Amino acid sequence: MKNRKTKTELPGNKPLSYRDSHKAAEKGRAYQECYQSERWRRFLWDRERLLLSRFLDEFLSGQEIHLLDFACGTGRVVGYLETRVASSVGVDVSRSMLDVARGELKHTELIEADLTQENLLLGRRFNLITAFRFFLNAEPELRLAALRAIVPLLADDGYLVINNHRNLTSPMVFATMLYNRLRRCQGNFMFLSHMRNLVEDAGLEIVRVYPVGVLSIPRLTVPDSWNHRLDDVVLRYRFLSFLCESPIVVCRRRSAGDRGRM
Ligand SMILES: C[S@@+](CC[C@H](N)C(=O)[O-])C[C@H]1O[C@@H](n2cnc3c(N)ncnc32)[C@H](O)[C@@H]1O
Repeated sequence: MKNRKTKTELPGNKPLSYRDSHKAAEKGRAYQECYQSERWRRFLWDRERLLLSRFLDEFLSGQEIHLLDFACGTGRVVGYLETRVASSVGVDVSRSMLDVARGELKHTELIEADLTQENLLLGRRFNLITAFRFFLNAEPELRLAALRAIVPLLADDGYLVINNHRNLTSPMVFATMLYNRLRRCQGNFMFLSHMRNLVEDAGLEIVRVYPVGVLSIPRLTVPDSWNHRLDDVVLRYRFLSFLCESPIVVCRRRSAGDRGRM
């Protein structure tokens, strides 16, 4: 779901494509800085790390992991995982974002490329592919192109782990969407069902949703310990997951029988 105005525009009101949205020279530093200065982002990242670890234990325990982080940006996700995997590759189109990643990462092969235009990794296989904070803001065609590029790189028994950082069934996200509409300003929002359709069209299925970020109330600072407790409750009672703002979604290839039913 998308509103009328776009946040990032070129002179002449031509909207900047998502492919180009993080290419400005200062973007990498600014993005990294958000994770230090914004309390809610820091909290979300705490939860994401916790749940990425849980995911590894639940789905890939004891396995040798070969990781591709698509749209890796400053290397946030791959940087957290690189010491737990046998090999890691990060791919992004933005030199500015990758410059920050180069300064942070130790074991990861970083590639500046657009796999949707030229798939330099064809022939390689990864049993874990991550893509965080990408699908929500990418244009519909870019979402499809990205999945068409990365699904062939996924090992048959591998997992694609992505997130939707503005889940519309979260009451706070829903309220933000209404508020934005009133002000006629931009914002992308996505239902989990939309994400499900997207991955199913690419031959995948969702096997787990990890809830992240339940109580984000603008201008109300709640101690992090309360937020952690609340997120823990939603994690335990899965039927409450719809309340969260930024779910992590674990996908795998659909079995041959399921694909036949498409
Ligand atoms: C919001 S950042 C997320 C970075 C990182 N995944 C994270 O969660 O911190 C989105 C990234 O997608 C990248 N991107 C956009 N289009 C891309 C494409 N076609 N191929 C690879 N990366 C792309 C941008 O350059 C940007 O670094």
